[in-house]
Amino acid sequence: VTAARYDEIGRGYAQVRRPDPRIARQIEQAVGSGRTVINVGAGTGSYEPPGTVVAVEPSAVMIAQRPPGAAPCVQAMAEALPFGDGAFDVALAVLTIHHWSNLEAGIGELRRVARRQVVLAFDVEETGEFWLARDYLPEVVELDRKRLPPLERVVELLGGALVEAVPVPHDCTDGFFGAYWRRPEAYLDPAVRAGISTLAVLGDALRPGLDRLAADLASGAWRQRNAALLELDEVDLGYRLLIAGT
Ligand SMILES: C[S@@+](CC[C@H](N)C(=O)[O-])C[C@H]1O[C@@H](n2cnc3c(N)ncnc32)[C@H](O)[C@@H]1O
Repeated sequence: VTAARYDEIGRGYAQVRRPDPRIARQIEQAVGSGRTVINVGAGTGSYEPPGTVVAVEPSAVMIAQRPPGAAPCVQAMAEALPFGDGAFDVALAVLTIHHWSNLEAGIGELRRVARRQVVLAFDVEETGEFWLARDYLPEVVELDRKRLPPLERVVELLGGALVEAVPVPHDCTDGFFGAYWRRPEAYLDPAVRAGISTLAVLGDALRPGLDRLAADLASGAWRQRNAALLELDEVDLGYRLLIAGT
């Protein structure tokens, strides 16, 4: 998935990917107050902390959806950030590293331009255990494995990091892949799938799995199999905040 891909799939992103306030708080705490921040792979500006001095985003379609008053945005790629060494306190990268064409170069750039790095990513094997991937759409795990190495490798590239779980609330407002774990019907909605890059990219290949999900929802089989989940307010689906540097 390249930046140009977001010029195709990024339309309408701001409507279905509204930052979740609980996740925003966790990110802001990790970033800390009074720091200068560069937000890399910034998209429409979700989770940008108050100290953000610049955002970096390759897709013009995503940049066009940034709200008025958002930090200035430079059209560039993580792999070659047009800033000097140590120009910022913190480099933030939220749900973007799995899209980078060269993860090593991108993480190297986060470390070059900032003393501290805060990266929201996911553990491919853990998200692969999420019922949607495990029971209906195994193609997603295959694609994610190609896009992202094991999380330990990302931590290694960061030179070590504190790893914090980011639980997903049952009413998460940011419609990423795991957001609708307790609202399974949502995955049958094309507008919801269009806001989740992996599902948008895989498109028609997902039809058999989605048809099975629709049938299991209609028959009650999904509810029976996932009854325990319906009692929970939040779950750990493998999303991780990596906090590195000094
Ligand atoms: C899922 S969106 C996340 C956007 C935002 N951080 C958020 O949390 O809503 C992924 C973003 O990464 C961007 N992206 C893709 N390749 C990139 C690269 N090589 N360098 C920087 N950003 C990239 C995409 O254009 C897209 O806006």
